[in-house]
Amino acid sequence: MVYRQRCGLNHTRHVIAAISRQNTLRLKTSGLCRVCMKTIVINNQKGGVGKTTLAVHLAWHLAETGGRVLLIDADAQGNATDTMKLHRGDVTAAELFRQGSAPVTGGVDGITLAASDSSLTDVDRSDAAAIQQFRDNLRSVSAVFDVCVIDTPPSLGLRSVAALVSASHVLSPIYLEDYSVKGVKGLLQTVIGVQKRYGRSDMKFLGLLPSNFNTKSPRQRAHLDQLLREAGKYVFPGHIVARDGYAEAVAEGVPVWKLKKRSAQEAGREIRLVLSRIVEQMG
Ligand SMILES: Nc1ncnc2c1ncn2[C@@H]1O[C@H](COP(=O)(O)OP(=O)(O)OP(=O)(O)O)[C@@H](O)[C@H]1O
Ligand SMILES: [Mg+2]
Repeated sequence: MVYRQRCGLNHTRHVIAAISRQNTLRLKTSGLCRVCMKTIVINNQKGGVGKTTLAVHLAWHLAETGGRVLLIDADAQGNATDTMKLHRGDVTAAELFRQGSAPVTGGVDGITLAASDSSLTDVDRSDAAAIQQFRDNLRSVSAVFDVCVIDTPPSLGLRSVAALVSASHVLSPIYLEDYSVKGVKGLLQTVIGVQKRYGRSDMKFLGLLPSNFNTKSPRQRAHLDQLLREAGKYVFPGHIVARDGYAEAVAEGVPVWKLKKRSAQEAGREIRLVLSRIVEQMG
């Protein structure tokens, strides 16, 4: 019953599939309910706030803890695709917006990447049916993956809306230097607007996640204090510290905790705590 409330439609089918595979014992190995696929959307219309860095690390973390992960790079810049190209699956992100897209297969080490390509920008010119199509395509793979992580572009076009409409969870990295009450309000209004317009009151907003946070900057600390005072209930309990290792990690296509440098190891410990908390909050 609890699962039904969280997962929405087709619950019974997933439960039956899971039981028939007799993998009840596997259900909790990654800290997630494995009966229905969760879809977490990393979204902020502002650019350069740490969306892709977070999305790829979350995918690595989930896969390392035993999850079967579908990572969708819905951003035509293709940054997540560059980092995760080894995990490329047989279906592109653009194809997921079309009817009759092929089954999502391929990928390695627990991660299947639905890659970005140049045709993604055309998707934004599609009609609204593409939103429902994307949602339906995700539903059709929900017995194959435990978690779908969607990296979104820094704009509110059809692709971002479709991702939000399909989300069970939304997380919004924010850069504290950029913080303005107006910007955060707009972000929250977007999420709440999609929830209302598409009847997605079951979608859970996990919060605003301060990212690339220079903890030594008095200005950034002041921005965080202000944010906590004014919108504390929307702030995720944790932050991602600014560390050198991240740029190298995403360029090399490995999680920051796999780099040898001391600062990268430190970053790895910190981000893993945040990632564990995200997984915990996803239920
Ligand atoms: N915690 C961090 N420490 C240091 N650098 C970081 C951190 N997080 C992100 N960065 C750097 O900030 C830049 C922007 O990060 P990222 O690409 O993840 O942002 P984004 O929100 O996905 O950007 P876009 O909106 O353009 O897609 C990158 O150069 C990245 O390496
Ligand atoms: Mg990005």
